[in-house]
Amino acid sequence: MRITLGVTGGVAAYKAAELARRLQQEGFSVQVVMTRSAREFIAPLTFAALTGEKVITDLFAAPSGGPANLDSAIEHIAVAQRTDLLLVAPATADTLAKFARGLADDFLSTLYLAAAAPVVVAPAMNVNMWRHPATQENIAMLRARGVRIVEPGEGYLACGMTGAGRLAEIDEILAAVREALQLKRDLAGETLLVTAGPTCEDLDPVRYLTNRSSGRMGYAVAEAAARRGARVILISGPTALAAPEGVERVSVRTAEEMHRAVLEKFPACTAAVFAAAVADYRPVEKLPQKMKRNKAPLTIALEPTPDILADLARQKGQRVLVGFAAETEHVAENARKKLAAKNADLIVANDVSAPGAGFDLDTNIVTLYARDARENALPQMSKFEVAQRILDEVLRLRATPRLVPAARRSQA
Ligand code: CTP
Repeated sequence: MRITLGVTGGVAAYKAAELARRLQQEGFSVQVVMTRSAREFIAPLTFAALTGEKVITDLFAAPSGGPANLDSAIEHIAVAQRTDLLLVAPATADTLAKFARGLADDFLSTLYLAAAAPVVVAPAMNVNMWRHPATQENIAMLRARGVRIVEPGEGYLACGMTGAGRLAEIDEILAAVREALQLKRDLAGETLLVTAGPTCEDLDPVRYLTNRSSGRMGYAVAEAAARRGARVILISGPTALAAPEGVERVSVRTAEEMHRAVLEKFPACTAAVFAAAVADYRPVEKLPQKMKRNKAPLTIALEPTPDILADLARQKGQRVLVGFAAETEHVAENARKKLAAKNADLIVANDVSAPGAGFDLDTNIVTLYARDARENALPQMSKFEVAQRILDEVLRLRATPRLVPAARRSQA
């Protein structure tokens, strides 16, 4: 997730450097925007070095001596669209006034108007400025508009006075950020197993059968679950993706290897999401040497791979199992069939041929089919958001007692 950190001109500006670092440690990418007066207190280079990203300072940044450039003039719109949260720390009385009244005369105040993302401000100023009715009125206006205010603390202020006005503690600011992003820790205590990516089924030492899965959907589930406090074991086929922070990744290549890894880790998990696009067939024989070209037509004998989801579902106990159904036609019908045939608790179905859905994209369009017949067609959203909805359903299904068919109940 991406946070834009606005730094405005106050003595506490130096504390924003530590804040940027802590945000990154929590897995956020951070774009820093500094006001002119902030730059009197701390150099942009400090933030550039910490975040590894260019720091934005001016609304009309021009190459030295040259005319103002249009690219940077419209940059605030691009930054606004990319940001998941705008955090301003420290926020001066002047910045709060601009935000409250909708003035837009620098990059940060323009960004505030252009951004639809949640906003968190952590004010820091002299105690009299903080208590002034003008500031308090601005704060009330911002709060009424949904802006989250991290109240300044009491203490010794740089101006020599004592009272309210110190920038809140970094932990408090981070808690407000998590709350604003609704980063729940509701999966604490759960162990989630996730399969992701394609599998590769070798034909000979240089050739293999595979599919177009990028692994992004499964990795998004793993990342979202880890952020919500779950222990996550990600069993991944070959992908170009980095393991999300805090996730234990087991790399595999073939369906057989994936099956073995899942069998080994399954007993420890409380829920499992099978997002991998497992090859349904593999060559009967893997040739030890490279196959040579031949003029005659070639037929390769294939055999089915183990159905990992269906196999584990036979021993699932109280675990919630989620499967995917990547379809190109009759999506609902196929999804309902898979739910029953695989004994899954939830099937996430998508039409991989629809625009905005499917492989190698950041977005997906899915419908969730739950074992209790609840069906939920979600609009197009990022794979990370889809992941959050899947996890919400996992929690709901875990809390819903499973109906045991009458026949099995009498055997028990
Ligand atoms: N799956 C699995 N092991 C396999 C094949 C599929 O665990 N050998 C899982 C996938 O991870 C997915 C679900 O089963 O969660 C459905 O996969 P999909 O390929 O859509 O279904 P198939 O059973 O292969 O049916 P078909 O290809 O005929 O649609």
